[in-house]
Amino acid sequence: MDLITTHVNADFDALGSLVAAKKLYPQSRLLLPGSQEEAVREFLSLARELVAVESERECRLDDIDRLVLVDTKQKARIGIAAELVDRGVEVHVYDHHPRMKGDVVADKDVYEEVGATVTILSGMIKKRKIKLSYLEATIMLLGIYEETGSLTYRSTTKFDVDMVSFLFSQGANLSVVSSYLNREVSREGLSLLTKLINLTERVEINGVSVSLVEIDAENYVSDLGALMQKLMELENINILFVLIKSPGGKVDIIARSRVPALDVNKVLSLFGGGGHPGAASAKTRGIGIVSIRQKLFNVLKSKIKVAKYAKDIMSKGVKAMSANEKVFAARATLTKNNLDGMPVTQKGRVVGIITLNGLNKAIKRSFGHSRVKGYMTREFVTVSPDTPLHILQKMLFENPVGVFPVTRGKKVVGVINRTALLRSVHGTLFAKPPVIDRNVTLNLAKKMSAVLPADVMALARKIGRKANSLNYTAFIVGGLVRDLILGVKNLDLDIVIEGPAIKMGEELAKDLGAALIIHRRFGTCTLITKATGYNLRGNRVGYRVGCSGFKIDLATARREVYERPAALPTVEFSSLKDDLVRRDFTINAMALSLNKESFGRLIDFFGGERDLARGVIKVMHDASFIDDPTRVFRAVRFEQRFGFTIDPHTEDLIKNAIKIEMFDKVEPQRIRDELIAILKEDDPCRAVRRMSELDELRFLHPKIKFDSRIVKLCRAINSTCDRYDGSIFRKRSVERWLIYLMALFDRLSYNDVSSICSRFALRRSETIRLLSCKEDADKAAKALASASAVSPSIIYRILEPLSFEVILFITSKAFSPKVAARVEDFFRKLNGARVNINGADIASMGLSPCPEYKTILDKVLYAKLDGKVKTRKAELELTRKLVKKFMR
Ligand code: CTP
Repeated sequence: MDLITTHVNADFDALGSLVAAKKLYPQSRLLLPGSQEEAVREFLSLARELVAVESERECRLDDIDRLVLVDTKQKARIGIAAELVDRGVEVHVYDHHPRMKGDVVADKDVYEEVGATVTILSGMIKKRKIKLSYLEATIMLLGIYEETGSLTYRSTTKFDVDMVSFLFSQGANLSVVSSYLNREVSREGLSLLTKLINLTERVEINGVSVSLVEIDAENYVSDLGALMQKLMELENINILFVLIKSPGGKVDIIARSRVPALDVNKVLSLFGGGGHPGAASAKTRGIGIVSIRQKLFNVLKSKIKVAKYAKDIMSKGVKAMSANEKVFAARATLTKNNLDGMPVTQKGRVVGIITLNGLNKAIKRSFGHSRVKGYMTREFVTVSPDTPLHILQKMLFENPVGVFPVTRGKKVVGVINRTALLRSVHGTLFAKPPVIDRNVTLNLAKKMSAVLPADVMALARKIGRKANSLNYTAFIVGGLVRDLILGVKNLDLDIVIEGPAIKMGEELAKDLGAALIIHRRFGTCTLITKATGYNLRGNRVGYRVGCSGFKIDLATARREVYERPAALPTVEFSSLKDDLVRRDFTINAMALSLNKESFGRLIDFFGGERDLARGVIKVMHDASFIDDPTRVFRAVRFEQRFGFTIDPHTEDLIKNAIKIEMFDKVEPQRIRDELIAILKEDDPCRAVRRMSELDELRFLHPKIKFDSRIVKLCRAINSTCDRYDGSIFRKRSVERWLIYLMALFDRLSYNDVSSICSRFALRRSETIRLLSCKEDADKAAKALASASAVSPSIIYRILEPLSFEVILFITSKAFSPKVAARVEDFFRKLNGARVNINGADIASMGLSPCPEYKTILDKVLYAKLDGKVKTRKAELELTRKLVKKFMR
């Protein structure tokens, strides 16, 4: 026979656990040892028969061969059943109290860190699909509710909540539960509560407030636990110790803690007692109240960990700014880093503090271009990284400037500001409101399979498995995630690793037989794999290292610290969130998990998916364009590509970045790349119009104006190029973006174009085409537009030396069917035409090699193009005549 028992002074968790265990051990008897808490006794006076519990007086132990202990494993607390332990019967334990030295050694010991023991047993009942009666479910619910303070104690877990809902589904009755839990305080209880309130002393230990109260045993009431709970609520107490003194130096200690800073179980285990982190008790004998208090304070000093130090909460990104920084840029830096203020340094030493308030005032008075040093306060206090949080709190209270430079020696290592402090004291209460966190719910694995080619998908899974094996986490980030949600094909595999990307790259290169290019300085690498032969547009290509293999970029999650605005960032390795927060727009700051257990899960900290759905381009933070001004072009590019709108605040930030001429600080090549990217979009005309609206074009050249003429020209370029691309005479692809650029440069002089080309470091071949357009296009267009007949050889001579881009520009700009027809003739019949004779034929006619060879061959070719010679024989005849002429 099995006997299920629990601890003396049983509460509802103990009773509920007995009832629950009976469902798991149906051939058992239940024993309630000693006395019970008052509410339990009251309940049992009505339901004893139904629950069928025996008292110690009624219980016989001789036929018991297995003991099941619930809600305790301490032999000293189980009354007569301790005898069974001594006898060596099989013991099973179910308990949510942490294991301690001296616990019964059980054959089966089930422990889970949850709010109540009933929760553990309910989970097992649910799993085995055992049905409960309404009464059983109600007693068990009483257990969870009482032990978790109606699910409010910090020991409460999601599992407790789940089990409450399971018990409701089994018919538990909440009104019965509340009638036993929300009990009126008795008259004696009330007088003790008043005493407790008056006697409670508060001490601060390591910045944490601890309350302590001594009472005489004669004041003890059986519901002291409930009274302590009330006291804590009334007096807003988080940690409470009640010392109950009896004659003869006996002191009982009961403790409660509602905060993670102190585990009272650990404290009272040093007094021979125990419990769990939120509630514990101990009995001491012969030590005396004075020594107990002394020991308790010593233990608390060692057990209450200083919650945090300056080094834990300081912001480490941008730590200080130069006294010569401009006010505008300083404000952007503060806003971006979410700081109220920042130390100002000169020659490496802190010389003052600049606050957001000070900067705003300066800007309001139109001093945005002034230096920060004129607006900083020179009275400040520095702290060391090891200053405890509670000291910082006091300093904050006493100091009007809520910003402290954290220094080690003379070096600034971080900044503490009011917001950071408030956040660490009050947690999320002062945090920025969370953006919808969809990362748990949205899994894009299916969408990935639908959009990505099978071998790219296999590659993604392989990367995930490799990350698992190396204990890293891997994510696809950036444009691919955005495009995947939009259903657009994009094979730009940008991978971020929380772990060393180069090591990951090396391992993958080995497995995939891929080439690897390592950029050690940035902690990044590029794999060029032949495992899948796609280029980024999704077309199959051959494999050639460094050229057209399938590229995968791997980077370690990093945080970029911009030492000065618009500078290339310094890289610090960090977490995925840091890596995403440094990016340009919310729609580009999402990630897809590749690890096995979460493959395809969307990580969207910043509402990127919501902004995609709303069609909004929104920066991640206010200093985004200051950090990287080229983003003003990117904003336009994405807005026009997807038909989205730049959100109004982001647009203001763009205008501000343009106003304060941030572009002067950017490497011109980066502007060039963004401009080219815009001109490569499907309909660049709209994007250019938008750039013009935002006054972005003047950074290319002040003379570039976007007017209706350019719109017309861009449209003509578009249709000319479409016609060319769709024609049978299309010989090679043309770079349309270059033709659009010719249009933008149409009003500029040769010298202007030449200086733009060198300033923005355009490639030689591009520069040549752009300059040739300036030099030759108008002349050529005029000749081609001639009203009189133009022979094929003339057309050939005009157009053959020109690039296709220049020819198509001429055609577009002419708006003339005649020019278009002549150009078409050129492409169809004349371009690349060759004669059927060569130098050897000329030599055989007696003319030694000389520059005239070319003249002769050209003349024969022109005659051929004009239809004057049709066969090789005729060509030879003409050649002979020409040779004779030259030899004369
Ligand atoms: N990025 C950024 N700031 C920039 C450039 C890039 O934050 N100035 C980040 C964005 O997260 C972006 C990612 O780097 O998504 C990859 O950049 P890139 O390949 O240039 O752009 P995509 O977003 O992939 O866009 P596209 O489809 O035009 O390639």
